[in-house]
Amino acid sequence: MAKPTILVVDDEQLIRWSLNDRLTQEGYRVLEAQNAAEALERSREGVDLVLLDYRLPDSDGLTVLKKIKEAAPETLVIMLTAVSNVEVAVGAMKAGAYHYANKPFNLDEIVLLVEKALETTRLRREVRTLRASQAQPYSMDRIVGESAAIVQLKGLLQKIAASPASTVLLTGESGTGKDLAAKVLHYSSDRATRAFMNITCSALPEALLESELFGHERGAFTDARQQKRGLFEMADGGTVFLDEIGEMVPGLQAKLLRFLEEKTFKRVGGASDIKVDVRVVAATNRNLEDEVKHGRFREDLYYRLNVLPIALPPLRARPDDIQRLTNYFIDNFNTEFRKRVRRVAPETMKRLQAYSWPGNIRELRNAIERAMLLAEAEELTDADFPLAGGLAPRLNEGVQLPAQGIDLEQLERSLVVQALERSGWNQTRAAALLGINRDQIRYRIEKFKLERAAHS
Ligand SMILES: Nc1ncnc2c1ncn2[C@@H]1O[C@H](COP(=O)(O)OP(=O)(O)OP(=O)(O)O)[C@@H](O)[C@H]1O
Ligand SMILES: [Mg+2]
Repeated sequence: MAKPTILVVDDEQLIRWSLNDRLTQEGYRVLEAQNAAEALERSREGVDLVLLDYRLPDSDGLTVLKKIKEAAPETLVIMLTAVSNVEVAVGAMKAGAYHYANKPFNLDEIVLLVEKALETTRLRREVRTLRASQAQPYSMDRIVGESAAIVQLKGLLQKIAASPASTVLLTGESGTGKDLAAKVLHYSSDRATRAFMNITCSALPEALLESELFGHERGAFTDARQQKRGLFEMADGGTVFLDEIGEMVPGLQAKLLRFLEEKTFKRVGGASDIKVDVRVVAATNRNLEDEVKHGRFREDLYYRLNVLPIALPPLRARPDDIQRLTNYFIDNFNTEFRKRVRRVAPETMKRLQAYSWPGNIRELRNAIERAMLLAEAEELTDADFPLAGGLAPRLNEGVQLPAQGIDLEQLERSLVVQALERSGWNQTRAAALLGINRDQIRYRIEKFKLERAAHS
């Protein structure tokens, strides 16, 4: 640790000199000031502790104390006062002084006081670094990518992190990083030291989900032998991440809406309103607007959630990032598997960049994980990546719009039908062939009213 810096403020040269001499011997870096103006200027150099004489030629110590505390609240101040002045001492303590010492003082006493004071800052700093290091796994750099879309995403997350408890809606296909974005948002905000609570809305039946979210009172239902606090209560001061919000049942949608509007809720079976301060981050890979149109999602809740929408781009929309992400995952798995893979062969890299990645970053990560588990060589090649559809190229640059134009709906319908037929109506595989997710293909099956022919 660097030597702590102490600023000695006194108009008497002899006092400055004796303190400076002794504190330097004790291993501190010592600065001096002989009046208030100088003191304020030097304190800006970053001092840990100030020994401040109350009586100064151009001001009084209390005023200086307040100004120092205003500019740097963590600076410790020990006020030096004349013996009789109890009121000054009390005033100084009230204004945030760590302690006071009466003049004439004993140097040993001052040294002890300084040591004790600095020990408290050291502890405070330790706690803070500890907290910061706990939060570290989800810092902004965890979001890898330098494409315009990712730079914009990070900027947006940073801004929202710094803002109050506004609700956020993360949308994007499966595997695009919604979970990751939610965590980064939480850990970049001043909520980082409070809880991040996470629940998947589709994973539980309605009654259970309700009591998970809002808690319940004893006796609220047959199994409720104890009172239980819900996620919203436990996350007070922090963040609640509601994943797969599109799948939330209508009854709960209404209760969530009320919570978002009033920031209060009742435990199941409870009578009184409980107020908490949480940021709600919701995520879905469905198109909520469509869900609203089909009457499956409340319109008012949709608008309430959609205040700050963040759309995570699919990986195929930012092929520039594929190389960077690949290197990032290679580094990670090298550490995890104790391997020494250095690179992906240039030809293979080109194919990775041309592939459509229907499962997005998760699919890329899994592909690299699998490749590295088996890899013996330092270089990964085509043989290490047996991808769905054998790394089918993206069509976007290849297809030309005919001069007379096309019927886009009809083309879409035809491609969906072909994908379904080729995959024997396996929706997941058909979706992968089209670079969309299962919900998106289901939606199209409904939209085009497609039915499996009896013989197919
Ligand atoms: N920009 C990124 N940089 C590095 N890793 C990423 C990035 N985006 C996502 N990942 C990683 O990809 C994987 C999938 O991301 P995540 O779970 O956040 O996706 P998701 O959008 O929540 O998917 P789903 O809709 O299926 O729940 C995770 O391992 C995550 O850490
Ligand atoms: Mg997720």
